[in-house]
Amino acid sequence: MDSQGKLTDKLNSLLATYQIHYQNLRALHWNIKGANFFELHLKYEELYSRTQIIIDDLAERILTLESIPLHKFQDYLTVSTIEENATIFNGNSGIEYILSAQKTLILLEKEIFKISADLDDDGTNSMMSDLIREKEKTNWMFTAWLNKK
Ligand SMILES: [Fe+2]
Repeated sequence: MDSQGKLTDKLNSLLATYQIHYQNLRALHWNIKGANFFELHLKYEELYSRTQIIIDDLAERILTLESIPLHKFQDYLTVSTIEENATIFNGNSGIEYILSAQKTLILLEKEIFKISADLDDDGTNSMMSDLIREKEKTNWMFTAWLNKK
């Protein structure tokens, strides 16, 4: 496979991973229980709403690169680098999941960044660096929320 093919393949894998993450976030929003209900119910909604925008941007970037974005859940489950969550009621476990999922997403984005840098694909590069920076910042917040060092 040439580098361009490798790039769009990885972008599809990122798209699939965000789709599974999106659904995991919706489930967190629905199932949260406990004293942090109001805070986390809203935070989860903010995160899945943002994720929905990222998903559309990624699919349209793949089209811009003259390839075809995956759209079947069957394919998403096959190529996603994160799995569907079991039901999570606990706030701490929810935030732990988000922290870990975001770290996985950052790793994938860094892989894509390297390929797009080699291809002089500045558009994909800037998209990846924006996504990486955004999640690095919120990971700091989730770590602070969990009161972890
Ligand atoms: Fe809702």
